[in-house]
Amino acid sequence: MFFGGDSAQTLMLAAKSMGYDSCPMDGFDFEKVAELIKLPDDHVIAMFVAIGKGTQEAWPRPGQLTLDEIIIENSFEG
Ligand SMILES: Cc1cc2nc3c(=O)[nH]c(=O)nc-3n(C[C@H](O)[C@H](O)[C@H](O)COP(=O)(O)O)c2cc1C
Repeated sequence: MFFGGDSAQTLMLAAKSMGYDSCPMDGFDFEKVAELIKLPDDHVIAMFVAIGKGTQEAWPRPGQLTLDEIIIENSFEG
């Protein structure tokens, strides 16, 4: 089973609740990092999550969908 995204989200929410900021990343060489950290064969890297104290507010996110557009209650019809 693979829980990478859920785990990262939980980690980021926990960090926020403790007063930290975070940033997920996957723009790196997965194989090289696996080599560096001596990743066991039965593990895979999902992403990096950098956690720390933010130095400035996050930029505003333009084009975000409204809750009405992403939340379906009870049924897709009516
Ligand atoms: C799984 C995942 C991987 C990401 N990888 C990268 C990345 O490699 N490089 C990057 O610039 N942003 C990446 N992002 C987005 C950043 O977390 C962050 O939202 C973004 O860098 C903010 O960029 P902006 O300041 O350009 O808006 C990733 C997001 C997710 C969810």
